[in-house]
Amino acid sequence: RRLVVLVSGSGTNLQALLDAVAEQGEEAYGARIVAVGADRDGIEGLERARRAGIPTFVCRVRDYATREEWDRAMAEATAAHEPDLVVSAGFMKIVGKEFLARFAGRVVNTHPALLPSFPGTNGVRDALAYGAKVTGCTVHFVDDGVDTGPIIAQGVVEVLDEDDADGGAALHERIKEVERRLLVDVVGRLSRDGYRIEGRKVRLQHG
Ligand code: GRF
Repeated sequence: RRLVVLVSGSGTNLQALLDAVAEQGEEAYGARIVAVGADRDGIEGLERARRAGIPTFVCRVRDYATREEWDRAMAEATAAHEPDLVVSAGFMKIVGKEFLARFAGRVVNTHPALLPSFPGTNGVRDALAYGAKVTGCTVHFVDDGVDTGPIIAQGVVEVLDEDDADGGAALHERIKEVERRLLVDVVGRLSRDGYRIEGRKVRLQHG
């Protein structure tokens, strides 16, 4: 399977996927990363791709007259690499109709909360502020909503009293440890075994 990974920041989820392919080999893992895309330049995620010798592309919203034109540019730049699966790993933009039309059912996102709780850009902070005792991460298919697509897998992380001291930074790091493992496992299984989406349920086909 051919993966295009979309990033907006440090890219530790991307790095986990890069490491899994390097350690297991493309055949055993079932996938390889053919390109990394971003909505901004100068981020660690792009450096990680370049260090791995993987092509990158950047589409900045401000370079396009409208959001739709940015969405089309992202879709075309992604399609150029003929992905089987698009993995949004810390990508902080919402892809639009054109992107989803081209890659429907093949875009996976990872979110640092237990959806449907705490969607959006501050999932870690919102769970902490709400007083949740457990939170975690969700790997799901992207649909036309925000963090609303069919759930593939989730991982649970305890919220600790001391997490209030730093606004969720330590909690997010603990979540990211679980998230990286979950994403590597899910992307591998989707790639090796195949899957079907039936309404809100994701059925993994066993190889
Ligand atoms: C991840 O926790 C992701 O779920 C959230 O932002 C973080 C990105 O981390 N949207 P990284 O860029 O993969 O290190």
